[in-house]
Amino acid sequence: MADNQLTAQVVFATITGNNEAVADNIIAILKDQGVQVEKSEISQTEPEELAKYDLAFLVPYTYDEGSLPDEGLDYFDDLADVSLSNLTYGIAGSGDTFYEGYYCLALDQFDEQMQKAGAKRAADLVRINLYPGKKDIEKLKELVNQSVQLAKKRQ
Ligand SMILES: Cc1cc2nc3c(=O)[nH]c(=O)nc-3n(C[C@H](O)[C@H](O)[C@H](O)COP(=O)(O)O)c2cc1C
Repeated sequence: MADNQLTAQVVFATITGNNEAVADNIIAILKDQGVQVEKSEISQTEPEELAKYDLAFLVPYTYDEGSLPDEGLDYFDDLADVSLSNLTYGIAGSGDTFYEGYYCLALDQFDEQMQKAGAKRAADLVRINLYPGKKDIEKLKELVNQSVQLAKKRQ
């Protein structure tokens, strides 16, 4: 008997497009694996929606010395109050190594919120410098593979 098809939501925030490119890569990899995917921009998304999915990938940019995306602040705050104990998630995002100690810090902050919501992470956070290249896409494949494996076990 075939496994039930997994579902995923990919939530991204972007100003200049790099994080949308990261999200699109994740979506292509998920589709290759037969996962049914929905793409959603963060300001148009409610964290409660995540309860409908097996998998979630959050893809935020980092701004102003480690700050969260402005348009994602409501989403971020509301995340801590939802119960997502059945959800498996991954986090990836593009920042700029120029910002050294603040590099991609929004990823860590979103990770903390997802932990508070009770969701489970299978893979390390994937930090990408500016536009995703070949090596980054390999890391995204690893991220998706590990997350899909855990989500299948939890089905
Ligand atoms: C004013 C400004 C502040 C930034 N601050 C940070 C930062 O603190 N940490 C970081 O990793 N990247 C920082 N960046 C870089 C962006 O996160 C990076 O360019 C990213 O790829 C933008 O994503 P987007 O194309 O999806 O908007 C900053 C960029 C600008 C313009």
